[in-house]
Amino acid sequence: MNKQELLKIKKKALEEKIPIIMDDTLEVIEKYLKKDKPKRILEIGTAVGYSAICFTEFLAENGVIDTIERDEKRAREARENIKKAEVEEKINIYEGDAIEILPKLNEKYDVIFIDAAKGKYTFFLNEALRMVNKNGIIFADNILYKGYVLSDYNKHKQRTAVRNLREYIKETSENPNLETEILEVGDGLAVSKIL
Ligand SMILES: C[S@@+](CC[C@H](N)C(=O)[O-])C[C@H]1O[C@@H](n2cnc3c(N)ncnc32)[C@H](O)[C@@H]1O
Repeated sequence: MNKQELLKIKKKALEEKIPIIMDDTLEVIEKYLKKDKPKRILEIGTAVGYSAICFTEFLAENGVIDTIERDEKRAREARENIKKAEVEEKINIYEGDAIEILPKLNEKYDVIFIDAAKGKYTFFLNEALRMVNKNGIIFADNILYKGYVLSDYNKHKQRTAVRNLREYIKETSENPNLETEILEVGDGLAVSKIL
């Protein structure tokens, strides 16, 4: 991977206020993946490809990442960025709405990273549970959403998102096949290991 290019991609994304994964969140994910390097990662929410490019460093040899983005302009920029970072052979972008794309996927994944519309996290979870391998991990970023999720906040237009994120935490915590931790890194990261 071309690290110089990665730094440029990160700088541009931050300047343009594109929400990319935070450094501390990335570090935590790296720690989880260090021991058993994943062969296949699914990402929901590519943006401009920054996190997917970073994740290529965590892959096992010949590992691949599938990533989904519905915004045409961002998907195009992600393709360009992936090329610049010289990791084209490791990342496959599905362009379109994950709500439509996920039910059509029938692959198995060692790691699934949920980082898209917050009001759809429980839908993404159910699709992830269908495709994740045993001993795999599902990560969900922004799970604490600026602290709204654990406070008594329940007004405004974010209400649907907050309700859905709370439901995600409830479902993952109560599922006997999962071991879930909610970490206060970045904007909150849910880590669910498949038992
Ligand atoms: C937080 S950004 C992803 C950041 C990226 N993972 C990174 O860290 O570099 C969320 C992205 O998900 C996309 N998105 C939101 N809902 C989606 C959906 N239903 N299907 C596909 N993409 C979606 C948005 O367009 C946005 O680019």
